[in-house]
Amino acid sequence: MKVSSFNIMAILMCLLLATLTTIAQGQGTRVGFYRTTCPSVESIVRTAVQSAVQADPTLAAGVLRIFFHDCFVHGCDGSVLLDGPSSEKTAPPNLPLRGFEVIDAAKSQLETTCPGVVSCADISALAARDAVVLAGGISWQVPLGRRDGLVSQASDTVNLPAFNDSISVQISKFADKGLNIQDLVTLVGAHTIGTGACVVFRYRLYNFNGTNQPDPDINPSFLPQLRALCPEGGDDSRRVALDTGSVTRFDTSYFTNLRNGRGVLESDAKLWSDSTTRPIVQRFLGLSGLLGLTFNVEFGRSMVKMGNIELRTGSQGEIRRVCRATN
Ligand code: HEM
Ligand SMILES: *[C@@H]1O[C@H](CO)[C@@H](O)[C@H](O)[C@H]1NC(C)=O
Ligand SMILES: *[C@@H]1O[C@H](CO)[C@@H](O)[C@H](O)[C@H]1NC(C)=O
Repeated sequence: MKVSSFNIMAILMCLLLATLTTIAQGQGTRVGFYRTTCPSVESIVRTAVQSAVQADPTLAAGVLRIFFHDCFVHGCDGSVLLDGPSSEKTAPPNLPLRGFEVIDAAKSQLETTCPGVVSCADISALAARDAVVLAGGISWQVPLGRRDGLVSQASDTVNLPAFNDSISVQISKFADKGLNIQDLVTLVGAHTIGTGACVVFRYRLYNFNGTNQPDPDINPSFLPQLRALCPEGGDDSRRVALDTGSVTRFDTSYFTNLRNGRGVLESDAKLWSDSTTRPIVQRFLGLSGLLGLTFNVEFGRSMVKMGNIELRTGSQGEIRRVCRATN
């Protein structure tokens, strides 16, 4: 008698657990979402990113930034991928985005192998991970199951973080997306690869904030180098490594550069000069009394969090046939 009521209890508990798991999976993303519907999704995306990055190593940074700009506007729903006269792509912060053709290549291959199954938002999430790994970062598992959005408005990009945002503004823009201060410092560590145009930091070099002096956060020994790359009145579009000396390697030298006054963007330099974020940079450099943090491990963790911003799953949105247009 006792045994059988125990058995019934156990069965009920199992049923409850199974139901809860199903509900959780129905609402969120999960690893292996396409295991039965498109088992080769990961290798197809990886191959597309690999061949693009082999031909042009700077595209790893391009693909990584696309995912960030997708997630911060309307959630990670592929809205940044849509073409159109007033789509997100046409807004100033998105004009330098590069690598859309990498997402297109993966999508067209996937439409041949498993048509109508894999969202463009998920392709972008996988491509960002693959780009980091190709640049020397550590891999992580990417939860999938995002749906593609139907809306893309240039005006919705106003809340993207800007190169001249103060730390308190950066923190609040990340907090609005459910990301904490450690996620902020970790994710901006993406600037360990890629470049910025002179136009986004030249104002720091000559007459910063009306002082007729350079930004005091710039190391005086670094200044001549930046001035030579971006002379006053020179080419706005010339591109400069955000992590001097290690522009294609996904490593911690970006944080070392911040500590040494060699951050290129004002928003980056402040991660060190501001006492709110400096301790986290110190932890990545192993310079803190607090426990050290391993950048390459934390990066994957924070990317998974960023990848779940304002999720659309289940029957919301659609699975686009091409990433540049709604169906
Ligand atoms: C406070 C937050 C952030 C600000 C203000 C910021 C700003 C910028 C700016 C101004 C550029 C240069 C754009 C250009 O001139 O082409 C840039 C490049 C880049 N950003 Fe960020 N960013 C932030 C966070 C992030 C995050 C969270 C990621 C990814 C997880 C990211 C990834 C990149 C990459 C990879 C590049 C290089 C792009 C390329 O080489 O084409 N950024 N960012
Ligand atoms: C940041 O730069 C933009 C121009 O790119 C300017 O309109 C804005 O006022 C600046 N913000 C701050 C806080 O300096
Ligand atoms: C710029 O100058 C204004 C007025 O002099 C000052 O209040 C502000 O803190 C300065 N901003 C920076 C980033 O130094």
